[in-house]
Amino acid sequence: MNIIIQLSYLIASVLFIVGIKMLGRTKTARKGNVVSSIGMFIAILATVVQVEAISLIDILICVLIGSTIGLIIAKKVEMTKIPEMVAIFNGFGGLASLSVALSDFWLNTQQRGLEVDNITGISVALSILIGGITFTGSLIAFMKLSGRISGRAIVFTGQHLINLVLLILSVGIVIFALTDFSNPNYMIILAVLSLVLGILVVIPIGGADMPVVISLLNSYSGMAACATGFVLNNNALIVTGALVGASGIILTQIMCKAMNRSLMNVLLGGFGQTSAAGGEVDGPQITVKEVGVEEAAQIFDSVSSLIIVPGYGMAVAHAQHIIRELSELCEKNGVNVRFAIHPVAGRMPGHMNVLLAEANISYDKLIEMDEINDDFANTDLVFVVGANDVVNPAAKTNPNSPIFGMPVLNVEKAQTVIVSKRSMGKGYAGIENELFGADNCLMLFGDAKQTITKLVGELKEQG
Ligand code: TAP
Repeated sequence: MNIIIQLSYLIASVLFIVGIKMLGRTKTARKGNVVSSIGMFIAILATVVQVEAISLIDILICVLIGSTIGLIIAKKVEMTKIPEMVAIFNGFGGLASLSVALSDFWLNTQQRGLEVDNITGISVALSILIGGITFTGSLIAFMKLSGRISGRAIVFTGQHLINLVLLILSVGIVIFALTDFSNPNYMIILAVLSLVLGILVVIPIGGADMPVVISLLNSYSGMAACATGFVLNNNALIVTGALVGASGIILTQIMCKAMNRSLMNVLLGGFGQTSAAGGEVDGPQITVKEVGVEEAAQIFDSVSSLIIVPGYGMAVAHAQHIIRELSELCEKNGVNVRFAIHPVAGRMPGHMNVLLAEANISYDKLIEMDEINDDFANTDLVFVVGANDVVNPAAKTNPNSPIFGMPVLNVEKAQTVIVSKRSMGKGYAGIENELFGADNCLMLFGDAKQTITKLVGELKEQG
């Protein structure tokens, strides 16, 4: 039986790896999700067979409750709220690792009177430390993103020193614990310290950096699970934990690079203190030229190349379906239509790809920033839909700008730029965008979905 269980774990692990590989490309992402889910099903089945201490009924009741909650949340959650959902899921992952490791340790040392070897002891300590930080850190991230507490960076003097002291204390306790694993007090103190550390590490991080932190906490939840895998001697948990830990850290690096921030810079916090979501940094006065739907339709009718640049506003407006209609209409008129995808457009990695794919926009029309950036200069029209920071030229020209150095889309190089947004509201970085005042830029004010619906109607009438 043990061979069958281990073989099932091996199959599950291979399916996870293949699934993740498939998730890397939009075309295969859905199938990748299914493949990974099958892997998870096999892993759960093998674990249920392996675990003898708990009755099958108890396990099934827990699975039923968990699956129902998961299903309801997944069905109800808005696309723009996914980072919050991921944050809370990470948190519970961390809490699960902490609880499982602590209870297993307690059971073995206190109730069964067993000796714990160093590897298991260190694994327990790591599960507790990383799991605790992940739990409270993710809760703070969730509360910041959902507006339950202020999204701004909360900083005070000596903050980093306190965090450092707590971390050194935690490591010290692990070393003490190594000398006497039969004393459970060390692990309990470690749990308390890690919970406090999680809060203190995340509060100085401002709103704009939260998605990076969530990705990092996601990686932590994987590492905690991996450590718990060693505690329980469960190979599937070790492999899945390692996969989550590694992919989370890779994603964190990608996001930091796209925002031109170092991970240390994000972790030391303070960014949202000066430039929180909602925009509070004043910039130069910008005079803009407005365009009406009718005039915009005439411009759309006269071009032969069009690049659509979606941003967070497209997600808010749910404008992806009407954008597809617009793109199809333009293509019918012989226009070469492409979509430029900035790596951090929106509020989570792949946000734009997911929304455009949901609207059945062909994958090969979605072009990554590095590939399309040189083409703007040869493009007749760029249509910016609810994007702001990712098209802000200040990132290239203004060394004092908080986003200076962040790679952005060169939309200002196109012959004409039309920007669809509701007002002169700022983007996530909270700064002005001089693009809107550029000679070749026209502002099409209004909710993106409503405006583009009118635009499509107008184009149909004209055509
Ligand atoms: P933003 O810079 O956040 O700008 C979004 C714009 O959408 C706003 O200026 C807003 O202007 C407009 N908008 C809102 N609702 C709208 C609606 N219903 N219709 C039309 N427009 C609407 O978006 P972006 O350009 O996508 O940049 C993303 C930002 O998030 C970057 O600063 C990035 O660093 C940050 N960020 C992203 C990620 C990931 S992974 N994607 C992670 C961390 C941080 P109005 O209010 O005037 O309409």
